[in-house]
Amino acid sequence: MNNKPSYLKEVNLMIQVLMGLVAMLLIVATLSLYPLITGKPITFFNPSAPAQPQVISLQVVSKVIPDLWQAPAIESVKDEALAKQIAYGQELIAHTAVYLGPEGSVAQLSNGLNCQNCHLNAGTKPFGNNYGSVASTYPKMRGRSGTMEDIPHRINDCFERSLNGKALDENSKELKAMVAYIEFLGANVPKGESAKGSGIWALELLDRAADPIKGQVVYKNQCKVCHGADGQGQWSAAKKEYTYPPLWGDNSYNDRAGLYRISRFAGYVKTSMPLGASYDNPILTDEEAWDVAAYVNSQARPSKDFPADWPDISKKPMDHPFGPFADEFSEEQHKYGPFKPMKKTK
Ligand code: HEC
Ligand code: HEC
Repeated sequence: MNNKPSYLKEVNLMIQVLMGLVAMLLIVATLSLYPLITGKPITFFNPSAPAQPQVISLQVVSKVIPDLWQAPAIESVKDEALAKQIAYGQELIAHTAVYLGPEGSVAQLSNGLNCQNCHLNAGTKPFGNNYGSVASTYPKMRGRSGTMEDIPHRINDCFERSLNGKALDENSKELKAMVAYIEFLGANVPKGESAKGSGIWALELLDRAADPIKGQVVYKNQCKVCHGADGQGQWSAAKKEYTYPPLWGDNSYNDRAGLYRISRFAGYVKTSMPLGASYDNPILTDEEAWDVAAYVNSQARPSKDFPADWPDISKKPMDHPFGPFADEFSEEQHKYGPFKPMKKTK
């Protein structure tokens, strides 16, 4: 005779089910905590899986930096005439080509680029090559010219190189307006100090040379859609300025422009391209930024010589790719890197 109560069977079953659930929970917890603790994703070996693609575009979210410089509002300017001049300066920076480009309404002395194409949001975007530090640090001694440069001189540098054009008359209404705008922007930065987040992001150096072949893949995946397969960008409907500016070729900046230096291009792109990227929400990895810069720099662009540049060759930055140099590295290495060995010699 079986005198065990029949419900014991059910209790046994329930205990087994419960233990099963606990075991499953443990597995799930381990799987989800592993990547959090080790920082590595869990990978299951799968021999038929395709090889990892060369270019992985992940959103690397970096930290928001507090207290970055912010541009003042033009509305805060009480003097009406000055406010008007500043607003004209801003307009010229944002739509340079409409006034001074190949079809410019005031003069025709530059390619189709706008200052804003490289100095984003009219020179106010954090790490978007902004003008925050210009008023507070100019006039300054610059190695390229070997002279003290004031703001008009520096603006004309970009006209002759980045806009591959002619210098503006320093007494022109246009140059004066741009200077007024840039001085107004930086008026909230103490003299001699730099605005936090101005200029171009400083990227970590790679251990290898930047690679144009890897960069071509980045270009196809991340840039081509706007700047075009041929890098020539796209004019706006009225053909007065670019909707998407060219990255190389006849209408681009010349080879003595700052952006032709690979560290400038890579740093600019890291925090600003593809359009929509920002320093705290970049789209490219550092390697992708260096490699796409190498690809763009392997394409043809206008060449212009400035024989008076770099009177002291030891002042040339590591990525100035034209000799003679004060060190033993080749033009090729000054163009693409690796740069770490150069840093050690300085
Ligand atoms: C093709 C890109 C490009 C265009 C277009 C361009 N610039 Fe520049 N500009 C640069 C680069 C790159 C630098 C150097 C930034 C650095 O090395 O930190 C620079 C530097 C400057 C500086 C000095 C900034 C500083 O903090 O020292 C001023 C001022 C300036 N540009 C004004 C202008 C004006 C005005 C225009 C339009 C007439 C213009 N730029 C058009 C790329 C460009
Ligand atoms: C969604 C469209 C879009 C994509 C994608 C894009 N760009 Fe741009 N790019 C722009 C626009 C628009 C500007 C001008 C910004 C302005 O005037 O405000 C620009 C400006 C630039 C400039 C400075 C101006 C010049 O002509 O040299 C560079 C350099 C640049 N982009 C590089 C890149 C690279 C490299 C990629 C890919 C990693 C890329 N861009 C992807 C739209 C795009």
